[in-house]
Amino acid sequence: MTKLLKLPGLIDVHVHLRDPGATQKEDFYTASRAALAGGVVGLVDMPNNPAPTINLKRLVVKKQAAKKSVCDYGFYFGANQENWKDFRKVFSQVFGLKIYMNHTTGPLLVEDLAVLQQHFKNWPQSKPILVHAEQDTLAKAIGLAACWDKWLHVCHLATSEELELVKKAKQKKIKVTCEVTPHHLFLTKDEVKTLGSLAVMRPPLQTRADLKSLWWGINKGIVDLIATDHAPHTLKEKQSSSPPNGIPGLETSLPLLLTALNENKITLKKLIELTSINPAKFLGLKSVKNSWVEVDLNKKWIIEQKNLQTKCGWSAFHGRKVIGKIERVFLRGKKVVENGKIIVKKGFGKPL
Ligand code: NCD
Ligand code: ZN
Ligand code: ZN
Ligand code: ZN
Repeated sequence: MTKLLKLPGLIDVHVHLRDPGATQKEDFYTASRAALAGGVVGLVDMPNNPAPTINLKRLVVKKQAAKKSVCDYGFYFGANQENWKDFRKVFSQVFGLKIYMNHTTGPLLVEDLAVLQQHFKNWPQSKPILVHAEQDTLAKAIGLAACWDKWLHVCHLATSEELELVKKAKQKKIKVTCEVTPHHLFLTKDEVKTLGSLAVMRPPLQTRADLKSLWWGINKGIVDLIATDHAPHTLKEKQSSSPPNGIPGLETSLPLLLTALNENKITLKKLIELTSINPAKFLGLKSVKNSWVEVDLNKKWIIEQKNLQTKCGWSAFHGRKVIGKIERVFLRGKKVVENGKIIVKKGFGKPL
């Protein structure tokens, strides 16, 4: 029996569109098609391109590239060794400041405490400072947020230690929010044995105990939202001798979560809160108006990478059995996806 369910359109606050500069992996058109196919109607692009989004000029170039998008979109500003002086020029045009406090994909890395303090001091309180900060580095980030009284957002929280830090910070009324990714919720480091370099990412996949604490954090209300960290690389790059970090996730996130819903790992209310309501709040929006996803909650199917829209063309979830299929997606009142087909033209996307 078909049991159609209507969900508010998903908003993904952590996506790497790779455009401009690394469009062999993905671009605004292909990534936004993948987004719609996954029920994501709005997304925010990360700044870590080969020529990163670190000044107004680069932001203007980004905006131009984004005109190809079929879903709604926004941007973050990337911190480097000196660009806190430019905050005033870009603040109103971005959803937050991204600081890479650990090594990961791309040229952005800020480890120097004096530089970090300048960023925390100068970025206004009303928008988040998003950090890639793993383990000990997260403690440093929370300390900075507490000292400068700023809004810290923890990207891709992955371990029980990190969850404990965020929980404590929240108890102490430090303004901290956090996201978890589908890959840290559905894969563990055991998968590295079968997937090899395809399962290489930052933060790395963790233990089953960590995965369990992330689900616990979700159901206890410590985790604020789910973001995919869609980080496509070509299969050739991933299978090279120095595979880059990151995996795609836009199209597989909702089916995995619907499966979890079917298995009673998450409630429908929580799923909606984490994928749509809280991401909208995080961006200072109510929602993407008049946008929804119709899903068949009972449909069993298998994720096949050949059916994906992402340019990279592979998935760490290839072959996985899931329960719950996206039937139709509507963006701003218009039907944009039907039966796995994107039925909207290049450029339909608008700034969030
Ligand atoms: C991301 C990428 O490839 O841009 N990679 C990843 O492993 N998550 C960068 C990041 O989010 O750290
Ligand atoms: Zn270092
Ligand atoms: Zn990161
Ligand atoms: Zn990322």
